[in-house]
Amino acid sequence: MPSLADDMAEILIDEQALQATIKRMGEQITRDYAGKELLLIGVLKGAIMFMVDLARSINLPLTLDFMAISSYGASTVSSGVVRILKDLDSSIENKHVLIVEDIIDSGMTLSYLADYLKARGPASLKICALLNKPDRRTSDVAIDYHGFDIPDKFVVGYGLDYAEVYRNLPYIGVLKPELYS
Ligand code: IMP
Ligand code: MG
Repeated sequence: MPSLADDMAEILIDEQALQATIKRMGEQITRDYAGKELLLIGVLKGAIMFMVDLARSINLPLTLDFMAISSYGASTVSSGVVRILKDLDSSIENKHVLIVEDIIDSGMTLSYLADYLKARGPASLKICALLNKPDRRTSDVAIDYHGFDIPDKFVVGYGLDYAEVYRNLPYIGVLKPELYS
């Protein structure tokens, strides 16, 4: 039977390393937001797995909300066009907002989203990203919490997709290039 794992050129970050780092990030956020009204905003769909595990490692009362924005579609390069597909359910005014994102690549998506949300008057706004591809940055984004710096390779798994597939892998893997070129 063919397995999703057969499509990986390599496993970049295994499940254990992911979970250990997310736990550490959650502990840091717990310390930093103690006594504050924390709202986690997950960016659908890529951030779902990370959002769930991160939220479970934060030991504070918090609320969750989600946004969906347009991403790459079936291509592996950013179009630079950011479209809001689903907006937040409630107001972020006077809330301490933490945007939870799977990966920062060019930074275009996040810099747009951060400006868009800042205009709604949150008490504070910070960015938490599991993965960072520093080599590909074209827009300036300050990442307040991040898990791993990764090389300029197209990765899938743990929420990240290629053409909507591979999100359910429990690790971050590099897709075999022949599968998308
Ligand atoms: P940016 O606007 O270029 O920073 O793109 C960020 C978005 O592109 C992320 O939220 C992902 O959805 C997607 N993305 C960037 N790099 C990868 C990758 O290696 N694999 C899968 N999706 C990616
Ligand atoms: Mg995304």
